[in-house]
Order: sequence, then structure tokens, then C-alpha cells
Amino acid sequence: MKKALSLLLTLVMVLSLAACGGKESDTSAPPPAEGDSSTSAPPVESGDVANKDKPLVWFNRQPSNSSTGELDMTALSFNEDTYYVGFDANQGAELQGQMILDYITAHIDEIDRNGDGVIGYVLAIGDIGHNDSIARTRGVRKALDTAVEENGSIKSDAVGINADGSASAVKDGKLTIGGKEYTVRELASQEMKNSAGATWDAATAGNTINTWVSTFNDQIDIVASNNDGMGMAMFNTWSKENKVPTFGYDANSDAVAAIADGYGGTISQHADVQAYLTLRVLRNALDGVDIDSGIGTADDAGNVLSNDVFKYVDSERSYYALNVAVTAENYQDFTDATKTYAPVSNQLDATAHPTKSVWLNIYNAADNFLSATYQPLLQNYDDLLNLNVEYIGGDGQTEGNITNRLGNPSQYDAFAINMVKTDNAAAYTGLLSQ
Ligand code: BGC
Repeated sequence: MKKALSLLLTLVMVLSLAACGGKESDTSAPPPAEGDSSTSAPPVESGDVANKDKPLVWFNRQPSNSSTGELDMTALSFNEDTYYVGFDANQGAELQGQMILDYITAHIDEIDRNGDGVIGYVLAIGDIGHNDSIARTRGVRKALDTAVEENGSIKSDAVGINADGSASAVKDGKLTIGGKEYTVRELASQEMKNSAGATWDAATAGNTINTWVSTFNDQIDIVASNNDGMGMAMFNTWSKENKVPTFGYDANSDAVAAIADGYGGTISQHADVQAYLTLRVLRNALDGVDIDSGIGTADDAGNVLSNDVFKYVDSERSYYALNVAVTAENYQDFTDATKTYAPVSNQLDATAHPTKSVWLNIYNAADNFLSATYQPLLQNYDDLLNLNVEYIGGDGQTEGNITNRLGNPSQYDAFAINMVKTDNAAAYTGLLSQ
């Protein structure tokens, strides 16, 4: 009998220890308040949903292998309410290439500034490991016939300096315009990364154009850039004054305005649609409604997107906005990049869609596109969607600078993440799984 009693006691002890262990690992539960003897803790501010089950949207940098581009489906399907929002990088890249080619065709008589028979261009690369950047480099090379293929895809490496056309990542292109053949050469290209490691760095591009000009001067007939931040830095430093057409990407307001002063053109990646989608997928998941609500299907406030501005690819769990070229012909329609997109600008009713809190980060607070265009748009939409968003700005170099500021995920209902490096999704999902 004594033996049975001590066995029972041991069992009780083991069980209660196990219960304690389980509790300890549940970091979403708040520490019990002082003097609180109850064992079942009250729900945290954001309800009883575990962080790992909360809606999560990746945006602008798609979880993927930065060398091969292969999508990180583990991150993209972290839970059933996980999505990516970006834009169609290949369609946009083709448009950018075509826009430059159209410009050359229309200005063929004056494009070759030194009359050496070679149309020379320089290219500012944003981030050699970023899908968007890679696609744009390829798009320009493809359109200008300077592309070199390897294993079925166009090389996207920077060439450095290519004065004699011997670089292996590109070739001299041939364009036939008005029955005449012209040679096109990528004179130089470089990833615009600063010494601290920030990519897409406008200041680096502004300095680099000076170096390129001192090497090539009037051999440079066109300046191309993976984005407007770098494009405008080169335009303001050199090409505006020297009347050399400069092409970027993003349709930031300053770049669109510069078209009146000779900036060649840019591509709108429909940030007004992307910013909406970024918050909208979270809203829908939080409301527990069909994910298509207010996207492909009108919601109760009449918000809806037509399929000429976005597409959804289910196998990639990704929404992609479609791009539009912005040139001298149509730039007047794009002067305010921070204006919400009219078809999805209706206020949601606060009773049916109560306020929820979202943690959102911008990987680099100094990134022109994200800070001057994307974040202001998000801030316009968060009110319309009744979302209380905490915006965190990173330093563009280290993931830890951002993840450090996600100390208490339990405080939020949903998360929107813009990684420094597309390979680093686990740094965030790890925090949400703890
Ligand atoms: C934009 C760039 C920006 C980058 C940041 C791209 O889609 O075009 O301007 O620097 O995203 O990740």
C-alpha cells in the first residue's frame, strides 16, 4: 500500500513537471501577473492565436534563393494565411527593355553622341541577389541584344568596365533600325552597394557615374538603372546637364516629374496596387473571409481590382501587380506616386472589420522606392482597412537590426515582412515559431 502511494506521488510529480515544461515553452503566453495564482493564463492582447498561426505577408523581397532564384516555398507557405505580394518582375523587365529600345528607335538620328557607330550604355544594378534586379538587368540586355545565355537563362552579372566589348557576361548587340544596322555595347555595369553593405544605393550610383564618365565620356549614349533611386542620382549628377536619356524603374514621384526635364522614362510597378494587397491579404485573413474579398471579388465597401492590374499564382502563394511604362507620352497621369488606387480606396466599416494591429518592416528606411512611394501608400491604406500598423525601418544591411525589434510578436495580430536578403525568411519565421 505504501509502495502504491509513493508510486502515485511520483506520477503526480512527473505530470506536474511536464505541465510546467509545456508552459515554459509557450512564449506567446504572458507571464502571470504578480499574485496571480490561476494556472490558465488569460489570453494575450492579440487573442489566443499562436504567433505561428497568425497571418503573414512577405512583400517586395520574395523568399527565394538569392543565387538561383528558386522560391522558398517553406517560407511562402509558413501557415495557411501566408502570402507574398510583389509585382510581375519579368513582365516589368520586358517593358523596361522595350521602353529603352523604343526610345532609341525614335531618336536614332541623334542617339550616338560621338558618332562612333556604337550606341553605348551604362547600367546601374541594384542587388545581384534580388529577383527584381536580376529580371531588369536581363530585360535591358535582351531588348538591346547584348544578352548572353547560360544554361537557358540570360546572364545578369555585372561586367565592371567593358570598354572593348570583350566582357563575357554580355556581347555587343546588333539593332537594325530604319534598314540600318547599329552596334550596342554595355560599356559598364556595377552593383550599387555601399561600403556598409546596403544595396540599390543611390549615393553609390551618383559617385559611380562620375567614374564612368571619366572613362567613357561621350561614348555614353544611354544610362539605364534597375531603379529610379539610382537612376535619379545619376541623372542629377550628370545626365540631366548632358542631356543623356536615363531610364529607371518604380515611377517614384521625383522621377516622373523629371521626365519633363529629360529623364527618359520609368516603369510603374503599380505600388498603389501592391501596398493595398500587402495589407488586404492580412485584413481578409484576420476577418476570416475569402482571401479574394476586395481583391478579385468586390467587398462590402465596393473595393475590387480588375485583372489587368494584378495576378495571383496559387502554386507560389503570390500576388503580383502588373507594370506600366511611364514616358513623356503619359507621365502626367503618374505624378503622385503616393495616391491610393481609386477602385480600392473605399473605407471599410469598423464594426464588420474591427481594428487589428500589424507589425510591418521596411528593410531599408533609406530606400527611395520603399520610403518615398511604398510606405506612404501603406499609410494611406492602413486607415481605410482599419489596421493599426507599426512601421519599423531597417538599416538595409543586417536582418538582426529588424528582427531585434520583433521582440514580442504576441502583441500583434499579423505581420508584414520585407527582408534584407531574400534567403533569410527563417530569421523571421523562427521568431514566430518559438
Ligand atoms: C524596387 C527598388 C527597391 C527594391 C527594394 C524593388 O522592387 O524597384 O527600387 O530598391 O525593390 O527591395
